[in-house]
Amino acid sequence: MSGRDELLGGSDEFDDENGNENGNTDGDEHLSATAREEVDLTASADPEVSLEASLDSKREEGDEVGLRPAVLDDFVGQPELKETLRVILGAAKKRNRAADHLLFAGPPGLGKTTLAHIAANEMGAELHITSGPALERPGDLASILNQLEEGDVLFIDEIHRLSRAVEEVLYPAMEDFRVDIVLGKGPAARSIPLPVSPFTLVGATTRVGLLTGPLRDRFGLETRLDYYNAADLQSIVLRAAGILGVDIDAAGALEIAGRSRGTPRIANRLLRQVRDFADVDRDGVIDLRVAEDGLAFFGVDDRGLDKPSRGLLESVCVRFDGGPVGLKTLSISVSEPTETVEDVYEPYLIQQGFLMRTPQGRVATAAAWKHLGLVAPRSATDPEPPLELFDDQ
Ligand SMILES: Nc1ncnc2c1ncn2[C@@H]1O[C@H](COP(=O)(O)OP(=O)(O)O)[C@@H](O)[C@H]1O
Ligand SMILES: [Mg+2]
Repeated sequence: MSGRDELLGGSDEFDDENGNENGNTDGDEHLSATAREEVDLTASADPEVSLEASLDSKREEGDEVGLRPAVLDDFVGQPELKETLRVILGAAKKRNRAADHLLFAGPPGLGKTTLAHIAANEMGAELHITSGPALERPGDLASILNQLEEGDVLFIDEIHRLSRAVEEVLYPAMEDFRVDIVLGKGPAARSIPLPVSPFTLVGATTRVGLLTGPLRDRFGLETRLDYYNAADLQSIVLRAAGILGVDIDAAGALEIAGRSRGTPRIANRLLRQVRDFADVDRDGVIDLRVAEDGLAFFGVDDRGLDKPSRGLLESVCVRFDGGPVGLKTLSISVSEPTETVEDVYEPYLIQQGFLMRTPQGRVATAAAWKHLGLVAPRSATDPEPPLELFDDQ
């Protein structure tokens, strides 16, 4: 181990005040980035840390590996973003320099992690993966930064969940490729700058609003991924079917696409479910009819709402008389962490006009009652009624 490693690993002063709450010893500092991640994943007792797990993404990861596009050309949709990345990554590769830091924001399953992999691949760079919750102490991040080689890509998932103290290590690293190690305490404390190899930080977040200004400012490119349209999702389904060897026609693929809540990860999941249905209950070929029956079999309705999404909506309508109901109360009623409700279920329900966020709490719209086959109370409203409606009257 080099002297530099020892300096990073052995310095107690480097810990922030509340960094030791999980009982970690200094020994943890010597683990590699990957080992640390594993430790954190298994040791985590915080229900909020399981956001990704609640999406079943870990379980699906095995199946997803072959489906994840590895290069920009295979990444479906988002044409403007692709063009921008082609230029940024191409220039970096040509000049043999690390590209500007990239921030990808948007709901889960839209391709943020995929883009981090693509960024590294396109530059021919090594990818290091970690996440906001896994970086508990400044030393955790410092030791990862210390291991980077020139041109590497560091991917920090859920970057909005970095602690303040860890974030402060990131600022000089992003800006000047430097970490400041503090030795000693009080008036005798000294700060020693250590160089970090020039690297590209790729950050992903489901909540760009929770990022601090200084962190956001240090990204060269900030992009918001939005829900995909049906045509793009259809391409994604057809591409995945090709890789998985599933026999599907265009109409079947479009039906799955239309019920995927705008989300590639869900499109891939529904394809696998419908394939199982087609293999067991039908002749293995997915056409419109088989897709419809298979999706109904797995409880996905014609607007793409699955059981948990519908359960949430039902809870607002039936249990809380259409709302307003607070996020915490609602989350408890459906036994999900607030973050999952807010990041996973609500954005699509809001986008589809079933749910509104008001200062008083969540409110179901008239469309929600109608969709659930319930009679709406007179007070139920539609979100932002189009102005023309009133002009006509
Ligand atoms: N633009 C895309 N084209 C094709 N497949 C995609 C695209 N975006 C996402 N996917 C698929 O969806 C899965 C989930 O994407 P991921 O990058 O893990 O989402 P996020 O990190 O935003 O939650 C990927 O494994 C990939 O198979
Ligand atoms: Mg991800």
